[in-house]
Amino acid sequence: MRFSGITPSGHAQLGNYLGAISHWAAAGGARDLYFVSDLHAMTTSHNPAGLRARTSEMLAVLIASGIAPERVFVQSDLARELGALTWLLECTCSFGEAARMIQFKEKAGGQSGVRLSLLTYPVLMAADILLLGADEVPVGEDQRQHVELARALAKRFNSTYGEVFTVPEAVLPPTGARVRDLADPARKMSKSGRDAAGVVFVLDEPDLIRRKVRRAVTDAESVPAYDPERRPGVSNLLEILAACTGTSPRDVAEAYGSYGALKEAVADAVIETLRPVREGTLALLADPAELDRIRKAGAARAAERGEHRLSSALRLIGAG
Ligand code: TYM
Repeated sequence: MRFSGITPSGHAQLGNYLGAISHWAAAGGARDLYFVSDLHAMTTSHNPAGLRARTSEMLAVLIASGIAPERVFVQSDLARELGALTWLLECTCSFGEAARMIQFKEKAGGQSGVRLSLLTYPVLMAADILLLGADEVPVGEDQRQHVELARALAKRFNSTYGEVFTVPEAVLPPTGARVRDLADPARKMSKSGRDAAGVVFVLDEPDLIRRKVRRAVTDAESVPAYDPERRPGVSNLLEILAACTGTSPRDVAEAYGSYGALKEAVADAVIETLRPVREGTLALLADPAELDRIRKAGAARAAERGEHRLSSALRLIGAG
């Protein structure tokens, strides 16, 4: 089964949609599961009420994107199971392995008061994956290293204590694996981007999307060409348009003779791609009782799916 998730540490952005959510929706496997990883949004300073609101918003975005309501749940509804399994996996993971994670180094670098959970977060992510027995984990490029850790921990636990976990594999999307910030194409687009001018949020109004795309940083050339190394800004626009229209960035480049025409086409495609997601999300958020019903049913299904793996792992490791 496929399993993946999104952290409500900010509002969903175009990179999340093109690199992950749209592929989850398209895969449509009958046993696949997707979740909102709210426990992961506490590794840096956070606001409890804001987190709760963004968790509901993310759940609505997943469903509005076309993932069946029976396939979604919220991580904290399984907090007890995941907390227990995380401990077993922390006892399987070395300190050095956790400290090597690129995201930890990036986020912790030079800061004081770093939460311990920022270091251990990939182990919780491994617990998410291993509890449910996922074999494929569809993620964008930035999460690949974390899935590799889950893979290493599953193999180690199985060979040390006994076979219980499915060994998972990261699956990267054919397009949209790394959408870049429009204002600073050296960086990936991110929910927590400091400068919202370069980040298209899934719930942005169409006019705002157009303004952000028009202002996207390109280069001193004037005719589009696909060259991610030397021309990251325009190549990012080509990748976005290719991902929205199901073509390749090189083919897209040949179709546009100027940056201006390309930007208008990108804006149109992004607006039309996100329109149903935005409208569906707003409709769901207007019906909190329905969202709550979906959430409760999803939690029960996911808990049932994971139960036997946690009890087997506890028994094998010498507890329970
Ligand atoms: P998160 O919330 O950072 O991102 C959700 C998904 O979006 C992808 N993504 C991108 N893809 C392309 N371009 C971008 N600019 C971009 N930004 C984000 C991410 O690769 C990801 O697939 N730790 C995870 C959530 C998680 C999880 C899990 C995933 C928690 N437990 C278990 C899989 C399995 C995270 O914070 O993703």
